[in-house]
Amino acid sequence: STDVSDVVVLCGASGDLAKKKIIPTLWWLFRDDLLPSNIRFVGYARSKMTVQNLREKTEPFMKLKDSEKAKANKFFDSMSYVQGSYTDKSAFEKLNKEILGLPNGCNANRVFYLALPPTVFADVTRNIHDACMSKCGWNRVIVEKPFGRDFDSSAELSNHLAGLFREDQLYRIDHYLGKEMVQNLLVLRFANRLFGPIWDRNNIASVMITFKEPFGTKGRGGYFDQFGIIRDVMQNHLFQVLSLTAMEKPVSNNADDIRDEKVKVLKCIKPLTLDDMVLGQYVGDPEGEGEAKEGYLDDATVPKGSVTPTFALARFNISNERWDGVPFILKCGKALNERKAEVRVQFREVPGDIFTPGVVKRNELVMRVQPNEAVYCKMMTKTPGMNVEPIETEMDLSYNMRYKDVKMPDAYERLILDVFTGSQLNFVRSDELSEAWRIFTPVLHQIEGEKVKPIPYKFGTRGPVEADDFVKNAGFHYSSTY
Ligand code: BG6
Repeated sequence: STDVSDVVVLCGASGDLAKKKIIPTLWWLFRDDLLPSNIRFVGYARSKMTVQNLREKTEPFMKLKDSEKAKANKFFDSMSYVQGSYTDKSAFEKLNKEILGLPNGCNANRVFYLALPPTVFADVTRNIHDACMSKCGWNRVIVEKPFGRDFDSSAELSNHLAGLFREDQLYRIDHYLGKEMVQNLLVLRFANRLFGPIWDRNNIASVMITFKEPFGTKGRGGYFDQFGIIRDVMQNHLFQVLSLTAMEKPVSNNADDIRDEKVKVLKCIKPLTLDDMVLGQYVGDPEGEGEAKEGYLDDATVPKGSVTPTFALARFNISNERWDGVPFILKCGKALNERKAEVRVQFREVPGDIFTPGVVKRNELVMRVQPNEAVYCKMMTKTPGMNVEPIETEMDLSYNMRYKDVKMPDAYERLILDVFTGSQLNFVRSDELSEAWRIFTPVLHQIEGEKVKPIPYKFGTRGPVEADDFVKNAGFHYSSTY
Protein backbone atom coordinates (compact mmCIF):
# COMPACT_ATOMS: atom_id res chain seq x y z
CA SER A 1 0.00 0.00 0.00
CA THR A 2 1.13 3.57 -0.49
CA ASP A 3 -0.41 4.66 2.80
CA VAL A 4 2.14 6.56 4.81
CA SER A 5 2.59 5.16 8.32
CA ASP A 6 5.13 7.54 9.79
CA VAL A 7 6.46 10.98 8.96
CA VAL A 8 9.75 12.39 10.17
CA VAL A 9 9.76 16.17 10.15
CA LEU A 10 13.29 17.51 10.29
CA CYS A 11 13.30 21.12 11.50
CA GLY A 12 16.58 22.78 10.67
CA ALA A 13 17.00 20.57 7.60
CA SER A 14 19.48 22.93 5.98
CA GLY A 15 21.76 23.11 9.02
CA ASP A 16 25.01 21.46 9.97
CA LEU A 17 23.62 18.84 12.36
CA ALA A 18 21.02 17.73 9.81
CA LYS A 19 23.53 17.44 7.01
CA LYS A 20 26.36 15.81 8.91
CA LYS A 21 24.45 13.58 11.26
CA ILE A 22 20.68 13.35 11.12
CA ILE A 23 19.99 12.84 7.42
CA PRO A 24 22.90 10.38 7.05
CA THR A 25 21.61 8.44 10.07
CA LEU A 26 18.09 8.31 8.66
CA TRP A 27 19.64 7.08 5.43
CA TRP A 28 21.60 4.25 7.11
CA LEU A 29 18.45 3.11 8.89
CA PHE A 30 16.45 3.35 5.67
CA ARG A 31 19.17 1.52 3.71
CA ASP A 32 19.17 -1.34 6.22
CA ASP A 33 15.35 -1.54 6.22
CA LEU A 34 15.15 -0.70 9.90
CA LEU A 35 12.61 2.10 9.57
CA PRO A 36 8.88 1.51 8.97
CA SER A 37 8.55 0.70 5.28
CA ASN A 38 6.00 3.39 4.55
CA ILE A 39 7.91 6.26 6.03
CA ARG A 40 8.20 9.78 4.63
CA PHE A 41 10.62 12.57 5.48
CA VAL A 42 9.83 16.26 5.41
CA GLY A 43 12.64 18.78 5.70
CA TYR A 44 11.75 22.18 7.09
CA ALA A 45 13.97 25.27 7.26
CA ARG A 46 14.15 28.95 6.39
CA SER A 47 16.35 28.65 3.30
CA LYS A 48 14.83 28.46 -0.12
CA MET A 49 15.98 25.11 -1.47
CA THR A 50 14.91 21.82 -3.00
CA VAL A 51 15.32 18.19 -1.97
CA GLN A 52 17.96 17.99 -4.69
CA ASN A 53 19.95 20.80 -3.01
CA LEU A 54 19.62 19.03 0.30
CA ARG A 55 20.84 15.81 -1.28
CA GLU A 56 23.93 17.48 -2.74
CA LYS A 57 24.83 18.95 0.65
CA THR A 58 24.25 15.70 2.51
CA GLU A 59 25.62 12.99 0.23
CA PRO A 60 29.27 13.61 1.11
CA PHE A 61 28.40 12.50 4.68
CA MET A 62 26.32 9.46 3.73
CA LYS A 63 29.21 7.10 2.83
CA LEU A 64 27.24 5.99 -0.21
CA LYS A 65 28.41 2.90 -2.14
CA ASP A 66 27.79 2.68 -5.91
CA SER A 67 25.53 -0.31 -5.37
CA GLU A 68 23.31 1.78 -3.09
CA LYS A 69 22.43 4.45 -5.66
CA ALA A 70 18.99 3.07 -6.46
CA LYS A 71 18.04 2.85 -2.81
CA ALA A 72 19.37 6.35 -2.21
CA ASN A 73 17.09 7.56 -4.99
CA LYS A 74 14.18 5.95 -3.21
CA PHE A 75 15.25 7.60 0.04
CA PHE A 76 15.27 11.07 -1.46
CA ASP A 77 12.06 10.35 -3.38
CA SER A 78 10.46 9.84 0.04
CA MET A 79 11.53 13.29 1.08
CA SER A 80 9.94 16.66 0.56
CA TYR A 81 11.03 20.07 1.64
CA VAL A 82 8.98 22.92 3.03
CA GLN A 83 10.42 26.38 3.34
CA GLY A 84 9.18 28.59 6.13
CA SER A 85 9.99 30.88 8.98
CA TYR A 86 10.47 29.54 12.50
CA THR A 87 8.39 32.23 14.15
CA ASP A 88 5.38 32.31 11.89
CA LYS A 89 2.48 30.02 12.76
CA SER A 90 1.08 30.15 9.24
CA ALA A 91 4.30 28.66 7.89
CA PHE A 92 3.75 25.67 10.19
CA GLU A 93 0.17 25.41 8.96
CA LYS A 94 1.67 25.03 5.51
CA LEU A 95 3.93 22.30 6.86
CA ASN A 96 0.92 20.58 8.37
CA LYS A 97 -0.92 20.75 5.04
CA GLU A 98 2.06 19.10 3.37
CA ILE A 99 1.81 16.19 5.83
CA LEU A 100 -1.95 15.94 5.51
CA GLY A 101 -1.53 15.84 1.74
CA LEU A 102 0.42 12.58 1.94
CA PRO A 103 -1.55 9.35 1.43
CA ASN A 104 -3.05 8.57 4.85
CA GLY A 105 -1.19 11.63 6.14
CA CYS A 106 -3.93 12.30 8.63
CA ASN A 107 -3.37 9.02 10.49
CA ALA A 108 0.40 8.85 10.19
CA ASN A 109 2.57 9.10 13.30
CA ARG A 110 4.82 12.12 13.47
CA VAL A 111 8.38 12.41 14.68
CA PHE A 112 9.63 15.98 14.92
CA TYR A 113 13.40 16.21 14.96
CA LEU A 114 14.56 19.62 16.17
CA ALA A 115 18.04 20.18 14.79
CA LEU A 116 17.91 23.88 15.64
CA PRO A 117 19.86 26.63 17.36
CA PRO A 118 18.55 27.39 20.87
CA THR A 119 17.41 30.85 19.80
CA VAL A 120 14.48 29.54 17.74
CA PHE A 121 13.68 26.59 19.92
CA ALA A 122 10.81 28.10 21.89
CA ASP A 123 9.02 29.45 18.82
CA VAL A 124 9.36 26.27 16.82
CA THR A 125 8.08 24.01 19.58
CA ARG A 126 5.10 26.29 20.17
CA ASN A 127 4.30 26.35 16.47
CA ILE A 128 4.60 22.59 16.16
CA HIS A 129 2.25 22.23 19.10
CA ASP A 130 -0.24 24.75 17.72
CA ALA A 131 -0.20 23.75 14.07
CA CYS A 132 1.44 20.40 13.36
CA MET A 133 0.37 17.73 15.82
CA SER A 134 -1.26 14.61 14.39
CA LYS A 135 -4.80 14.16 15.67
CA CYS A 136 -4.85 10.40 15.10
CA GLY A 137 -1.32 9.05 15.15
CA TRP A 138 1.23 9.60 17.92
CA ASN A 139 3.55 12.62 18.09
CA ARG A 140 7.12 12.48 19.39
CA VAL A 141 9.60 15.32 19.57
CA ILE A 142 13.37 14.81 19.52
CA VAL A 143 15.42 17.62 21.00
CA GLU A 144 19.17 18.12 21.13
CA LYS A 145 21.35 19.96 23.60
CA PRO A 146 21.98 22.66 24.65
CA PHE A 147 19.11 22.27 27.13
CA GLY A 148 19.69 25.72 28.54
CA ARG A 149 22.99 26.99 29.91
CA ASP A 150 22.36 26.83 33.63
CA PHE A 151 19.75 25.74 36.15
CA ASP A 152 17.32 28.63 35.55
CA SER A 153 17.46 28.74 31.78
CA SER A 154 17.11 24.99 31.62
CA ALA A 155 14.14 25.07 33.99
CA GLU A 156 12.53 27.74 31.86
CA LEU A 157 12.97 25.59 28.77
CA SER A 158 11.63 22.53 30.58
CA ASN A 159 8.56 24.45 31.75
CA HIS A 160 7.98 25.73 28.25
CA LEU A 161 8.17 22.21 26.81
CA ALA A 162 6.06 20.75 29.61
CA GLY A 163 3.34 23.22 28.70
CA LEU A 164 3.30 21.90 25.14
CA PHE A 165 4.09 18.19 25.28
CA ARG A 166 3.79 15.30 27.68
CA GLU A 167 7.06 13.90 29.03
CA ASP A 168 6.45 10.66 27.10
CA GLN A 169 6.39 12.69 23.88
CA LEU A 170 9.77 14.30 24.58
CA TYR A 171 13.00 12.60 23.57
CA ARG A 172 16.02 14.53 24.85
CA ILE A 173 19.08 13.17 23.09
CA ASP A 174 22.37 12.57 24.80
CA HIS A 175 24.09 10.51 22.17
CA TYR A 176 26.44 8.90 24.72
CA LEU A 177 23.42 6.88 25.82
CA GLY A 178 23.39 5.33 22.36
CA LYS A 179 26.91 3.98 22.61
CA GLU A 180 27.52 0.24 22.97
CA MET A 181 29.65 0.42 26.09
CA VAL A 182 27.45 2.94 27.84
CA GLN A 183 24.45 0.66 27.29
CA ASN A 184 26.62 -2.22 28.42
CA LEU A 185 27.12 -0.71 31.89
CA LEU A 186 23.69 -1.82 32.98
CA VAL A 187 24.31 -5.41 31.92
CA LEU A 188 27.85 -5.63 33.26
CA ARG A 189 26.78 -4.33 36.63
CA PHE A 190 23.48 -6.09 37.09
CA ALA A 191 23.79 -9.33 35.13
CA ASN A 192 27.05 -10.50 36.72
CA ARG A 193 27.34 -11.93 40.21
CA LEU A 194 31.02 -11.02 39.98
CA PHE A 195 30.69 -7.24 40.29
CA GLY A 196 27.60 -6.53 42.38
CA PRO A 197 28.99 -7.41 45.82
CA ILE A 198 32.25 -5.49 45.37
CA TRP A 199 30.79 -2.39 43.74
CA ASP A 200 31.18 -0.12 46.74
CA ARG A 201 33.43 1.99 48.95
CA ASN A 202 34.80 -1.05 50.77
CA ASN A 203 36.33 -2.38 47.59
CA ILE A 204 36.63 0.47 45.12
CA ALA A 205 39.31 3.14 45.61
CA SER A 206 38.36 5.53 42.81
CA VAL A 207 36.43 5.85 39.59
CA MET A 208 37.73 7.83 36.67
CA ILE A 209 35.62 8.75 33.65
CA THR A 210 37.57 10.20 30.76
CA PHE A 211 36.77 11.85 27.44
CA LYS A 212 39.65 12.94 25.22
CA GLU A 213 39.70 14.31 21.70
CA PRO A 214 42.83 14.87 19.63
CA PHE A 215 41.40 17.84 17.74
CA GLY A 216 40.42 21.39 18.65
CA THR A 217 37.26 23.33 17.88
CA LYS A 218 37.81 23.05 14.11
CA GLY A 219 36.07 26.30 13.16
CA ARG A 220 33.21 25.47 15.56
CA GLY A 221 34.84 27.82 18.08
CA GLY A 222 32.07 30.42 17.93
CA TYR A 223 29.51 27.90 19.14
CA PHE A 224 31.87 26.19 21.54
CA ASP A 225 32.94 29.42 23.21
CA GLN A 226 29.41 30.14 24.39
CA PHE A 227 29.34 26.85 26.25
CA GLY A 228 32.80 25.53 27.06
CA ILE A 229 33.85 21.95 27.71
CA ILE A 230 31.92 21.61 30.99
CA ARG A 231 28.57 22.19 29.31
CA ASP A 232 29.61 20.57 26.03
CA VAL A 233 30.72 17.23 27.45
CA MET A 234 30.94 16.94 31.24
CA GLN A 235 27.52 18.06 32.44
CA ASN A 236 25.78 15.77 29.95
CA HIS A 237 27.80 12.92 28.41
CA LEU A 238 30.12 12.21 31.35
CA PHE A 239 27.38 12.70 33.90
CA GLN A 240 25.21 10.15 32.15
CA VAL A 241 28.08 7.69 32.36
CA LEU A 242 28.62 8.56 36.01
CA SER A 243 24.97 7.95 36.90
CA LEU A 244 24.94 4.56 35.19
CA THR A 245 28.19 3.58 36.90
CA ALA A 246 27.10 4.67 40.37
CA MET A 247 23.32 4.22 40.56
CA GLU A 248 21.69 1.60 42.78
CA LYS A 249 20.14 -1.42 41.12
CA PRO A 250 16.79 -0.39 39.64
CA VAL A 251 13.71 -2.38 40.66
CA SER A 252 13.30 -3.44 37.03
CA ASN A 253 14.90 -2.67 33.70
CA ASN A 254 12.12 -0.41 32.53
CA ALA A 255 12.90 3.13 31.48
CA ASP A 256 11.42 4.95 34.45
CA ASP A 257 12.75 2.58 37.09
CA ILE A 258 16.24 3.06 35.67
CA ARG A 259 15.91 6.81 35.39
CA ASP A 260 14.55 7.00 38.93
CA GLU A 261 17.82 5.48 40.16
CA LYS A 262 19.90 7.80 38.00
CA VAL A 263 18.16 10.78 39.52
CA LYS A 264 18.57 9.42 43.04
CA VAL A 265 22.32 9.06 42.76
CA LEU A 266 22.65 12.59 41.37
CA LYS A 267 20.74 13.86 44.38
CA CYS A 268 23.59 12.58 46.55
CA ILE A 269 26.11 14.90 44.88
CA LYS A 270 26.75 18.40 46.23
CA PRO A 271 27.28 21.33 43.85
CA LEU A 272 30.78 21.28 42.40
CA THR A 273 33.30 23.85 43.64
CA LEU A 274 36.45 25.28 42.07
CA ASP A 275 38.65 23.57 44.68
CA ASP A 276 37.72 20.29 43.10
CA MET A 277 38.57 21.32 39.57
CA VAL A 278 41.40 21.92 37.14
CA LEU A 279 40.59 24.01 34.07
CA GLY A 280 42.68 24.28 30.93
CA GLN A 281 42.73 25.87 27.50
CA TYR A 282 44.90 24.65 24.63
CA VAL A 283 47.55 26.76 23.01
CA GLY A 284 49.11 26.25 19.58
CA ASP A 285 52.03 24.03 18.86
CA PRO A 286 53.91 25.47 15.88
CA GLU A 287 56.13 22.37 15.83
CA GLY A 288 53.14 20.01 16.01
CA GLU A 289 53.54 16.80 14.06
CA GLY A 290 52.64 17.13 10.40
CA GLU A 291 50.87 20.46 10.49
CA ALA A 292 51.23 23.37 12.85
CA LYS A 293 48.50 23.07 15.48
CA GLU A 294 46.44 26.19 16.10
CA GLY A 295 45.67 27.29 19.64
CA TYR A 296 42.09 27.86 20.82
CA LEU A 297 42.53 31.63 20.71
CA ASP A 298 43.94 31.41 17.17
CA ASP A 299 40.55 30.17 15.97
CA ALA A 300 39.09 33.24 14.21
CA THR A 301 35.59 32.40 15.46
CA VAL A 302 36.68 32.51 19.13
CA PRO A 303 36.41 35.93 20.84
CA LYS A 304 39.76 37.54 21.63
CA GLY A 305 41.07 36.79 25.10
CA SER A 306 38.37 34.20 25.81
CA VAL A 307 38.89 32.29 29.07
CA THR A 308 36.52 29.48 28.13
CA PRO A 309 37.93 26.13 29.26
CA THR A 310 38.60 23.47 26.64
CA PHE A 311 39.77 21.06 29.33
CA ALA A 312 38.19 20.30 32.68
CA LEU A 313 38.81 17.87 35.45
CA ALA A 314 36.47 17.59 38.40
CA ARG A 315 36.15 15.44 41.48
CA PHE A 316 32.79 14.45 42.91
CA ASN A 317 31.77 12.73 46.08
CA ILE A 318 28.58 10.72 46.19
CA SER A 319 27.34 10.98 49.76
CA ASN A 320 25.49 7.74 50.14
CA GLU A 321 26.15 4.50 51.90
CA ARG A 322 27.68 2.87 48.83
CA TRP A 323 30.11 5.58 47.73
CA ASP A 324 30.91 8.15 50.39
CA GLY A 325 34.64 8.92 50.23
CA VAL A 326 35.31 7.34 46.84
CA PRO A 327 36.50 10.01 44.42
CA PHE A 328 34.68 10.07 41.10
CA ILE A 329 37.06 11.93 38.82
CA LEU A 330 35.71 13.23 35.51
CA LYS A 331 38.12 14.48 32.91
CA CYS A 332 37.41 15.86 29.45
CA GLY A 333 39.29 17.90 26.94
CA LYS A 334 39.84 18.90 23.36
CA ALA A 335 43.17 19.04 21.51
CA LEU A 336 44.68 16.31 23.68
CA ASN A 337 47.06 13.50 22.77
CA GLU A 338 44.48 10.90 21.75
CA ARG A 339 40.85 10.03 21.16
CA LYS A 340 39.53 8.04 24.07
CA ALA A 341 36.47 7.67 26.23
CA GLU A 342 36.43 5.20 29.10
CA VAL A 343 35.39 4.35 32.64
CA ARG A 344 38.18 3.16 34.92
CA VAL A 345 37.21 1.56 38.21
CA GLN A 346 40.21 1.13 40.47
CA PHE A 347 39.93 -1.34 43.35
CA ARG A 348 41.57 -1.10 46.74
CA GLU A 349 44.76 -2.94 47.67
CA VAL A 350 44.55 -6.56 48.73
CA PRO A 351 44.63 -6.54 52.55
CA GLY A 352 47.55 -8.44 54.09
CA ASP A 353 49.75 -8.60 51.00
CA ILE A 354 52.12 -11.62 51.20
CA PHE A 355 54.20 -10.86 48.11
CA THR A 356 57.31 -8.77 47.59
CA PRO A 357 56.32 -5.29 48.79
CA GLY A 358 55.30 -2.99 45.97
CA VAL A 359 54.83 -5.69 43.35
CA VAL A 360 51.10 -6.26 43.66
CA LYS A 361 49.13 -3.52 41.89
CA ARG A 362 45.52 -2.53 42.30
CA ASN A 363 42.95 -4.31 40.15
CA GLU A 364 41.35 -2.08 37.61
CA LEU A 365 38.23 -2.66 35.56
CA VAL A 366 38.18 -0.61 32.36
CA MET A 367 35.18 -0.13 30.14
CA ARG A 368 36.42 1.51 26.99
CA VAL A 369 33.68 3.36 25.14
CA GLN A 370 35.83 4.36 22.18
CA PRO A 371 37.78 3.74 20.10
CA ASN A 372 37.73 -0.09 19.94
CA GLU A 373 35.10 -1.02 22.49
CA ALA A 374 36.51 -3.23 25.22
CA VAL A 375 36.01 -4.41 28.76
CA TYR A 376 39.23 -5.42 30.43
CA CYS A 377 40.41 -6.03 33.90
CA LYS A 378 43.93 -5.44 35.10
CA MET A 379 44.86 -8.23 37.44
CA MET A 380 47.84 -9.96 38.95
CA THR A 381 48.97 -13.39 37.85
CA LYS A 382 52.07 -15.49 38.41
CA THR A 383 54.73 -14.58 35.90
CA PRO A 384 54.45 -17.42 33.40
CA GLY A 385 57.39 -19.81 33.38
CA MET A 386 59.98 -20.36 36.09
CA ASN A 387 59.50 -16.96 37.69
CA VAL A 388 57.05 -16.98 40.61
CA GLU A 389 56.73 -13.23 41.13
CA PRO A 390 53.27 -11.77 40.52
CA ILE A 391 52.95 -9.76 37.31
CA GLU A 392 50.21 -7.43 36.13
CA THR A 393 48.22 -8.66 33.16
CA GLU A 394 44.79 -8.21 31.62
CA MET A 395 41.64 -10.21 31.26
CA ASP A 396 40.65 -8.71 27.99
CA LEU A 397 37.33 -8.61 26.14
CA SER A 398 38.15 -6.54 23.10
CA TYR A 399 35.14 -6.40 20.85
CA ASN A 400 37.12 -6.41 17.61
CA MET A 401 38.62 -9.76 18.62
CA ARG A 402 35.62 -11.43 20.26
CA TYR A 403 32.81 -10.00 18.14
CA LYS A 404 34.57 -9.49 14.80
CA ASP A 405 31.45 -9.85 12.69
CA VAL A 406 29.09 -7.62 14.61
CA LYS A 407 28.52 -4.30 12.96
CA MET A 408 28.38 -1.69 15.71
CA PRO A 409 25.56 0.74 14.98
CA ASP A 410 26.20 4.43 15.40
CA ALA A 411 24.76 5.92 18.59
CA TYR A 412 22.27 8.04 16.68
CA GLU A 413 21.00 5.02 14.76
CA ARG A 414 20.03 3.23 17.95
CA LEU A 415 18.47 6.30 19.49
CA ILE A 416 16.36 7.22 16.49
CA LEU A 417 15.04 3.67 16.33
CA ASP A 418 14.16 3.89 20.01
CA VAL A 419 11.96 6.86 19.22
CA PHE A 420 9.95 4.75 16.80
CA THR A 421 9.52 1.94 19.32
CA GLY A 422 8.70 4.45 22.05
CA SER A 423 11.57 3.47 24.33
CA GLN A 424 12.75 6.35 26.50
CA LEU A 425 15.33 4.42 28.48
CA ASN A 426 18.21 6.04 26.66
CA PHE A 427 16.85 9.55 26.69
CA VAL A 428 17.27 12.19 29.36
CA ARG A 429 14.34 12.80 31.68
CA SER A 430 13.70 16.38 32.81
CA ASP A 431 14.52 15.67 36.46
CA GLU A 432 17.90 14.15 35.50
CA LEU A 433 18.64 17.31 33.62
CA SER A 434 17.74 19.62 36.46
CA GLU A 435 19.82 17.60 38.96
CA ALA A 436 22.84 17.84 36.65
CA TRP A 437 22.36 21.60 36.32
CA ARG A 438 21.98 21.99 40.08
CA ILE A 439 25.42 20.44 40.52
CA PHE A 440 27.19 22.53 37.87
CA THR A 441 25.48 25.91 37.89
CA PRO A 442 27.19 27.62 40.88
CA VAL A 443 30.69 26.83 39.65
CA LEU A 444 29.88 27.76 36.07
CA HIS A 445 28.58 31.12 37.28
CA GLN A 446 31.69 31.61 39.37
CA ILE A 447 34.06 30.71 36.53
CA GLU A 448 32.27 33.14 34.24
CA GLY A 449 31.72 35.88 36.80
CA GLU A 450 35.31 35.92 38.00
CA LYS A 451 36.74 35.14 34.58
CA VAL A 452 38.79 32.35 36.10
CA LYS A 453 41.87 31.80 33.94
CA PRO A 454 42.31 28.29 32.58
CA ILE A 455 45.81 26.77 32.62
CA PRO A 456 47.35 26.73 29.15
CA TYR A 457 48.31 23.31 27.73
CA LYS A 458 49.91 22.52 24.45
CA PHE A 459 47.83 21.08 21.62
CA GLY A 460 48.37 17.33 21.48
CA THR A 461 49.47 16.79 25.10
CA ARG A 462 47.78 15.12 28.08
CA GLY A 463 46.42 18.50 29.22
CA PRO A 464 47.73 20.60 32.13
CA VAL A 465 50.23 18.73 34.33
CA GLU A 466 48.27 20.11 37.28
CA ALA A 467 45.48 17.73 36.28
CA ASP A 468 47.71 14.67 36.56
CA ASP A 469 48.95 15.89 39.93
CA PHE A 470 45.38 16.43 41.08
CA VAL A 471 44.44 12.89 40.08
CA LYS A 472 47.42 11.40 41.90
CA ASN A 473 46.62 13.40 45.03
CA ALA A 474 43.01 12.29 44.81
CA GLY A 475 44.23 8.73 45.34
CA PHE A 476 44.28 7.33 41.84
CA HIS A 477 47.35 5.14 41.16
CA TYR A 478 48.80 5.31 37.70
CA SER A 479 50.04 1.78 37.18
CA SER A 480 53.01 2.64 34.97
CA THR A 481 54.32 5.57 33.04
CA TYR A 482 51.61 7.50 31.23
C1 BG6 B 1 29.22 16.44 21.21
C2 BG6 B 1 30.05 17.65 21.55
O1 BG6 B 1 28.08 16.39 22.01
O2 BG6 B 1 30.00 15.28 21.42
C3 BG6 B 1 31.30 17.69 20.71
O3 BG6 B 1 29.27 18.81 21.30
C4 BG6 B 1 32.06 16.39 20.84
O4 BG6 B 1 32.13 18.78 21.08
C5 BG6 B 1 31.14 15.20 20.61
O5 BG6 B 1 33.09 16.40 19.88
C6 BG6 B 1 31.84 13.89 20.89
O6 BG6 B 1 31.07 12.83 20.43
P1 BG6 B 1 31.76 11.46 20.05
O7 BG6 B 1 30.60 10.56 19.75
O8 BG6 B 1 32.65 11.71 18.87
O9 BG6 B 1 32.57 11.02 21.24
